[in-house]
Amino acid sequence: MCGIVGYVGGRNAASIILEGLKRLEYRGYDSAGIAMIQGSAITVVKKAGRVEELIKAASKVSLAGTVGIGHTRWATHGGVSDINAHPHLSSDGKFALIHNGVIENYSQIKAFLLGKGFTFRSETDTEVLCNLIAYHYGKESAGRNGQEPFLESVRKALRHVEGTYGIAVLCVDFPGEIVAARKASPLILGVGDGEFIVASDASAIVSQTRNVVYLKDGELVHISAKGFAISTLGQLDVSPVVDRIDWSVEVASMDGYAHFMEKEIFEQPQALENTMRGRFSEDSSTALFGGLNMTPAEFRQIDRFLFCACGSAWHACLVAEHLFERFARVPVEADYASEFRYRNAPLDPQTLFFVISQSGETIDTLAALREAKRKGFRVLAISNVVGSSIAREADGGIYQHVGPEVGVASTKAFTSQLLLASMMALYVARMRDMSFNDGADYVGALKSAPDLVRRALAQAPHIRAVAKRYAQHSDFLFLGRLSLFPIALEGALKLKEISYIHAEGYPAAEMKHGPIALVGEGCPSVFFAPRGEIFNKIVSSMQEIKARKGPVIAIATEGCELPAGLADELITIPDCHEAVLPIIATIPVQLLSYYIAVERGCDVDKPRNLAKSVTVE
Ligand code: AGP
Ligand code: GLU
Repeated sequence: MCGIVGYVGGRNAASIILEGLKRLEYRGYDSAGIAMIQGSAITVVKKAGRVEELIKAASKVSLAGTVGIGHTRWATHGGVSDINAHPHLSSDGKFALIHNGVIENYSQIKAFLLGKGFTFRSETDTEVLCNLIAYHYGKESAGRNGQEPFLESVRKALRHVEGTYGIAVLCVDFPGEIVAARKASPLILGVGDGEFIVASDASAIVSQTRNVVYLKDGELVHISAKGFAISTLGQLDVSPVVDRIDWSVEVASMDGYAHFMEKEIFEQPQALENTMRGRFSEDSSTALFGGLNMTPAEFRQIDRFLFCACGSAWHACLVAEHLFERFARVPVEADYASEFRYRNAPLDPQTLFFVISQSGETIDTLAALREAKRKGFRVLAISNVVGSSIAREADGGIYQHVGPEVGVASTKAFTSQLLLASMMALYVARMRDMSFNDGADYVGALKSAPDLVRRALAQAPHIRAVAKRYAQHSDFLFLGRLSLFPIALEGALKLKEISYIHAEGYPAAEMKHGPIALVGEGCPSVFFAPRGEIFNKIVSSMQEIKARKGPVIAIATEGCELPAGLADELITIPDCHEAVLPIIATIPVQLLSYYIAVERGCDVDKPRNLAKSVTVE
């Protein structure tokens, strides 16, 4: 994935690029780099590690100049090192290139270029593309057959590339220019007064200009301080459409918390209020959504829903499946976006698609959306980031309104997705068989969610003490049933992501079909045991763990009696309606994994190997 940013204009490019990279760091933080044209050479500074490391290194070098490119990497090909960091130079030093994506046929191209005498310093697929451009440039210049050899050599090289890319390229022979292009990876051009910024997303642009052009797949843009021209890989000119962005980047600060994740956990009551605000009917019996772009009559025609997403957002899809089926009695399928896009599943024509994505930039989710649209289906999106690719390409949707989520581990965005899934289930249920009174009860429950979350958060000191006792274990099971099975998956994911402990989420009763082999003194099981019809069944599963000496950490409803001595640790959650139970049950597992990670001294907000938004396949 990674973030790319390039600047052409009249101001110092380096400071604008470095500021843009800070904003794009959520897309990858393995390494960062910058390249500037200075006189007849390209100066490159690049460092493994965070953008801060790059800023330190860049401060020791003179980076004057008004044209440059910068990159923050999430490695796909080649380890995390200074050499593999972008920008990459062609072996003749004429070109510098930054890339977001994967060149799938890089090994064939590399073999070809090695045969032509090109040399390679890094292990990346990206350097291969940079040299391929240099190869075509050599041919273009030799033959004098191109009006614009820089642009044409990039175009020619890209015609041989299989895979995905958002790129920006510098060429020493054209010191005032950048050529950028995209296929599948996002690329936006900010259009200022005598200056242009090309970037992976608008957050790196809006502090400089609000006028943007969203480039389409297969388009190249040739930029100089005088202007820009867009054309296709097939050499057709494209008339640009300049959009105005009417949002600004909200700046997140830690407000005295030790980590963004901690802050984001504790701001969930407010975040849920913001998600719900203005979204109930006047009679408080159903939900209302402004941006679905569908009439109730059209909604009523839907026989089936398909939810697609990745990671935590996929867990939200599983909860949606449960709540829709339970309350609206309509069949729902939840699918990994990455599987859906290749599965070619037979689909009922009356299916409505939902994609869920906090960032709105996850490539697999975007690809699933496009695949569904290509098949003629209407796709709605639940997303947090206004103006994101998914929000723009969906037929309609719902914004989460929880403000920026900075911690890589999703917390407030996840519970807000659960809330919207529950509100959608209500909306559909009320169009079907749910009565006014049941709808009013449901709305009452949703409105109580922020207070219930506050009560669940009040357990934090106790959960911190539990975390201290278990922080050194290396395996955990998370077990839940029905709508809390996805929350078991979420608990396991949170723990894995930020504390690097092996954890598995399982349906509590399914545990005896395999994972029970892991159970013993060294493998605690975190059990969701809410009040309800199957409470006793869950207690039986706990007994099975206990019989094998497995420590039991129970998350149970206040006042629920567990057999004496069964749970080694008891964490309580307030009693609540099923509509909000998954939200409330999420709080203790967020806190548990957060405190365990802190106890182990992990980098909570930027865990190793991860990125906030996964923009490569
Ligand atoms: C959550 O803690 C993860 N970091 C990850 O699973 C995330 O939910 C997933 O990558 C999807 O991201 P999105 O919501 O931005 O599409
Ligand atoms: N494939 C390139 C690399 O590994 C770019 C990855 C990215 O998009 O961050 O360097």
